[in-house]
Amino acid sequence: MRFCGLVYLSALSQLCLRGTLAKCPLQITPQSVVVKYGDPVSVNCSTSVTHMGMGWESTVGGVPLSTASLITWRVSELTDWEIQPPFCYINYGKQCEVALPVTVYKTPDSVSISTVNQTMIEGNQYELQCDVYNVAPVQKLTVNWYKGETLVDQTSFTDTIKSPVNKTSKLLIRPDRADDGAQIRCEVELNLGEEGPQPPPTNTSEPLRITVYYKPKHSNSTEIISWSNDVSLNCTVKANPAAVYSWHSEHLTEKISSSVIQSSTLSPGNYTCIATNFLGEDKKNFTINCVTGCHGTFWTVLVFPQLLVAFTSIL
Ligand SMILES: *[C@@H]1O[C@H](CO)[C@@H](O)[C@H](O)[C@H]1NC(C)=O
Ligand SMILES: *[C@@H]1O[C@H](CO)[C@@H](O)[C@H](O)[C@H]1NC(C)=O
Ligand SMILES: *[C@@H]1O[C@H](CO)[C@@H](O)[C@H](O)[C@H]1NC(C)=O
Ligand SMILES: *[C@@H]1O[C@H](CO)[C@@H](O)[C@H](O)[C@H]1NC(C)=O
Ligand SMILES: *[C@@H]1O[C@H](CO)[C@@H](O)[C@H](O)[C@H]1NC(C)=O
Ligand SMILES: *[C@@H]1O[C@H](CO)[C@@H](O)[C@H](O)[C@H]1NC(C)=O
Ligand SMILES: *[C@@H]1O[C@H](CO)[C@@H](O)[C@H](O)[C@H]1NC(C)=O
Ligand SMILES: *[C@@H]1O[C@H](CO)[C@@H](O)[C@H](O)[C@H]1NC(C)=O
Repeated sequence: MRFCGLVYLSALSQLCLRGTLAKCPLQITPQSVVVKYGDPVSVNCSTSVTHMGMGWESTVGGVPLSTASLITWRVSELTDWEIQPPFCYINYGKQCEVALPVTVYKTPDSVSISTVNQTMIEGNQYELQCDVYNVAPVQKLTVNWYKGETLVDQTSFTDTIKSPVNKTSKLLIRPDRADDGAQIRCEVELNLGEEGPQPPPTNTSEPLRITVYYKPKHSNSTEIISWSNDVSLNCTVKANPAAVYSWHSEHLTEKISSSVIQSSTLSPGNYTCIATNFLGEDKKNFTINCVTGCHGTFWTVLVFPQLLVAFTSIL
């Protein structure tokens, strides 16, 4: 300060004014506060300069002018949503003041998730809703949507209102078959900054379990199999609700409604299976090829005697 007082160059003195003289010689600790609604709060204001008096001014109780070098602003229960920043002031020949930013918060009374239809159809779009009751300040609120443990969406709010509000966040989803049985939940988080509680307070809805209906779809629409004694055709395919099956082939004489056909009913040739549920159907073709020994027993019986005959005739 002494150095500054000796400097007459205008540009430098401007710097001095901003850098030193303009700074109010008050330390506020902490420099800002985050208070849960109804909780106590106390903030110190101190100075190292000699002065004629300092005090706190606030809409919720101040500290009258005092000659002490440390004065404390105290509130036993902070219950004013719209509190103006209190400020500490000092008179040391000049007068100046430092304001204290105050954030009053409240975690929500409840967080709930809902949807018109918990049963969904693959590929259609659905809306889920998260209702948050009685939370403040909404500007610090984030709604996180989770599917299982995966964060799928986030909403924040720009409203500047400081008192508690109800808020709704919506999630649009287009579920696929992999989402059948998925648990969806919304989590609200109050991000109150470094001065706020750590970790940031969160509240989570109950999980909502969704059911997704989807039609059967085979990963391969054709399958070529070599004949063997224990060959079987398996048309089993995932579908919700479960598929019903029908088989078509010139080699089948009976109606078959199971998803698997065992060897006793089969012979080489082509087979078509149709898997169906209320959303649609999916066909799968099977071809059973005869590579070797398709009628093993038959050929042994027939060929072996001939070989024997040939053999004996050579002898
Ligand atoms: C305020 O000052 C008093 C006295 O020095 C001290 O006990 C207290 O911890 C201080 N509070 C804060 C928030 O710094
Ligand atoms: C809810 O799902 C059921 C069954 O899928 C359907 O009949 C109904 O129309 C759906 N309602 C709405 C509002 O989507
Ligand atoms: C929030 O919702 C509750 C219950 O529906 C209602 O009583 C309350 O007045 C609402 N609060 C605001 C700020 O709208
Ligand atoms: C919300 O979470 C806070 C802590 O994060 C907890 O104190 C409070 O009870 C929770 N509220 C509800 C309705 O579960
Ligand atoms: C589907 O067919 C491909 C090639 O035709 C084959 O590599 C794959 O193993 C088949 N998958 C199944 C499940 O049969
Ligand atoms: C048919 O295939 C399904 C799924 O690929 C499998 O779970 C099932 O065990 C198979 N059935 C037989 C009899 O091989
Ligand atoms: C069986 O299917 C294969 C391939 O789709 C085709 O080439 C063959 O002609 C079919 N055989 C019969 C007997 O229909
Ligand atoms: C399945 O077989 C039928 C008749 O054998 C044929 O019309 C159809 O195109 C085949 N489908 C596939 C995917 O090979």
